[in-house]
Amino acid sequence: MDNFQNLNNNNIPSHIAIIMDGNGRWAVERGKKRFFGHLEGVRVIKKIVESSIKIKIKYLTLFAFSKENWKRPKKEVNLLMKLIISTIKKNQNHFLKNKIKINIIGSVSDLPKDSQEAIDQMVEVTKNNKVLTLTLALSYSARDEIVDAINNIIEMKKNGNIEPITDKILSNHLQTANLPDPELLIRTSGEKRISNFLLWQIAFSELYFSEKKWPDFDEEELYMAIFEYQKRERRFGKTTAQINNETI
Ligand code: IPE
Ligand code: IPE
Ligand code: MG
Repeated sequence: MDNFQNLNNNNIPSHIAIIMDGNGRWAVERGKKRFFGHLEGVRVIKKIVESSIKIKIKYLTLFAFSKENWKRPKKEVNLLMKLIISTIKKNQNHFLKNKIKINIIGSVSDLPKDSQEAIDQMVEVTKNNKVLTLTLALSYSARDEIVDAINNIIEMKKNGNIEPITDKILSNHLQTANLPDPELLIRTSGEKRISNFLLWQIAFSELYFSEKKWPDFDEEELYMAIFEYQKRERRFGKTTAQINNETI
């Protein structure tokens, strides 16, 4: 099936978030070191970014490194840090040419100093790009993000703001304040968990779990996920009749 042909262009999600999982297992299955899987994973990111632009997705958010991933062996963490930064640096022209805005969520201050500088620079030079906002979650923990937001609001309240906290106020204090909630969340590698990613933002997201490990994920599978999404009915608590504007 050519999934691209089957997609309804009027119902492409504006924001897709992806938990890119399975790099390590993919490499080990091939008798290679886990790092080889991460390298292949970068190649796939580039492809998926191109495919996203092709079908006019406006926001793509990728879980690249979790707060919990710091617990991995030092050697893997160091190699991942180097890979993340070299990839960001190497692709500056690609981002500029394709009008990709780089956005980061997570505790960037946990990263090595030179990495932080490279990231800041990339965010700065791509800040006016409008075709695709590519958000990378680095040293990211959704629970930390929510706790930080609450602490910021408490601080604000100390300074005399006495309005009650609302859903909107909390959303506006998250690092994703400038992003719409993802309509679709994809996780690869057959794992069916969220692993502390975007907990607040995915309240109403459609979930798609792909059996493919990230290095095997491709355009076809992305379109399959969107095709599945398009078959679903997003009810937000309402009834089917209400969604279809039927009088009952
Ligand atoms: C995802 O692949 C990439 C990162 C978490 C950095 P993994 O490295 O988790 O691969 P598996 O799940 O061990 O196969
Ligand atoms: C989640 O994958 C983090 C990223 C994809 C960056 P993990 O492989 O770290 O998650 P768990 O350990 O299986 O929950
Ligand atoms: Mg994993």
